Amino acid sequence: MRIFKSGLCVIAMGGFLVGVNFANAEPENIAVCAACHGHDGSGAGFDYVPIIAGTPAAHLEEAIFAYQDGARKCVGVPVMCEAIAPLTENEVVEMATYYAAMPRISSEEEFDRKLAAVGKLIHDDLCAQCHVLPTDDNVGDALGIPLNGQRAAYLRLALGAYLTGDRETLVPIMADKLQELDQGKIEALVHYYASWDPE
Ligand code: HEC
Ligand code: HEC
Repeated sequence: MRIFKSGLCVIAMGGFLVGVNFANAEPENIAVCAACHGHDGSGAGFDYVPIIAGTPAAHLEEAIFAYQDGARKCVGVPVMCEAIAPLTENEVVEMATYYAAMPRISSEEEFDRKLAAVGKLIHDDLCAQCHVLPTDDNVGDALGIPLNGQRAAYLRLALGAYLTGDRETLVPIMADKLQELDQGKIEALVHYYASWDPE
């Protein structure tokens, strides 16, 4: 367990509580990101801001590089792309590592049980090969970014962006799978992802 608190990293190890002063526990410019994503990666209070807490660092890095090179456009909130444009590769890695270390949370939004059950079938059929649960042991090695617990408005925005071409899918197979979705299936998926309980 790691708790980051203004540069002080407390690591609990087998009953011992060790306080270590981590010079760089918080990346220097994290305030820029925290304005929207929060220091905890929850993005609480902002519909279109994805939860990035506990998302494996490699996935966060890949996403940031995709915004930087234009494979992902910031459709809803252009300031996001402006904020990450000047980051060096090292800063990207630092920030991704910082948010990846946060405990994964769920947006805890309301969902319809029946729709969620339909959504699970669609997910298992089309998406599960790459998108695993945030708590899965292999989440870091999975091709896709974990979707369960993600904010509904962000999922709708992201899926819409892939379908209109504002985002390139980095793996062609996902583009094929997305072609099989219609608005009804997207809604069912969004309800399924909202039904995830991290406990
Ligand atoms: C003005 C608000 C804002 C700021 C500032 C901001 N972001 Fe974002 N971030 C967003 C929004 C909104 C999205 C979704 C954008 C989209 O795809 O249209 C996003 C998406 C992301 C994603 C993709 C997550 C995923 O699951 O694919 C990452 C990673 C990220 N931001 C990291 C950062 C970092 C690091 C910083 C600071 C350098 C930062 N953001 C600054 C609002 C912001
Ligand atoms: C062959 C693997 C694969 C399959 C199958 C797949 N995806 Fe993905 N998905 C990815 C990868 C890789 C990314 C991250 C890179 C990108 O943006 O293309 C991603 C990203 C996403 C994102 C953006 C997540 C975020 O946090 O920004 C969404 C939403 C998504 N996928 C939904 C789906 C849905 C829904 C399905 C099923 C209909 C699906 N994917 C099937 C590999 C896959």
